[in-house]
Amino acid sequence: MPKLKLKHLLAIRWFHWINFPLLALMIWSGFLIYWAYPVYSIGPVRFPQGLFRALHMNQRLADGMAMHFFFMWLFVINGVLYIVYTIVSGEWRLLVPTSFGALRDAWQVVLHDLHIRRERPPQQKYNAAQQISYTAILVMGIGSVLTGLAIYKPAQLNWLAAWFGGYPGARLIHFALTIGYCVFFVVHVIQVIVAGWNNFRSMIIGYELVDEHE
Ligand code: HEM
Repeated sequence: MPKLKLKHLLAIRWFHWINFPLLALMIWSGFLIYWAYPVYSIGPVRFPQGLFRALHMNQRLADGMAMHFFFMWLFVINGVLYIVYTIVSGEWRLLVPTSFGALRDAWQVVLHDLHIRRERPPQQKYNAAQQISYTAILVMGIGSVLTGLAIYKPAQLNWLAAWFGGYPGARLIHFALTIGYCVFFVVHVIQVIVAGWNNFRSMIIGYELVDEHE
């Protein structure tokens, strides 16, 4: 008979679900800033202006900045609490890949997901591909905050901007990380749909149904 097993701690679930709308607001307000003036365009990346007019995103620099600089504090607080909690609770051991073997195992996960490899690679709470992508998204979050601070106060924090190759470099990385979140989001949601209801529900109620023999 299947029984309920705790998978996601309450605090982790709160941090995860608070992060989702906050990140969405950061991306939305970031786009408002990005498209407010041509001076904010980056390289050859151009999206059709008609799209932004349709979404009421054009000429809203003040709105974008106000939202971005407000929600960034909540995003940082939630992210710092998540990292501290993950370390203190020991959950990081399940989340962070601890050897280069994880790269090989992640490749096996990809082959299994593509139905090329039959056997499911060994895993604990997360498989190696999840460990790598969840750890990467954390590092990306830290990168977004640091590059964001560098372009927020480029005069006072010029030493920080210098880490990223100066103001233009920090801006480019800040933008590239945002595109990275969008890619992560699409893959993450597809994986969640494929993994099924039991897995998704466990991120809400904390528990998943497992076979007694497992
Ligand atoms: C509709 C949006 C989302 C859904 C439905 C969703 C769903 C889930 C589910 C079901 C898990 C558990 C995976 C498992 O146990 O196998 C998970 C974990 C995770 N998700 Fe999401 N997620 C969403 C958005 C996001 C976003 C926007 C991010 C960050 C950019 C994110 C980052 C993570 C991370 C880091 C974990 C691992 C958490 C931990 O155990 O510490 N998710 N998500």
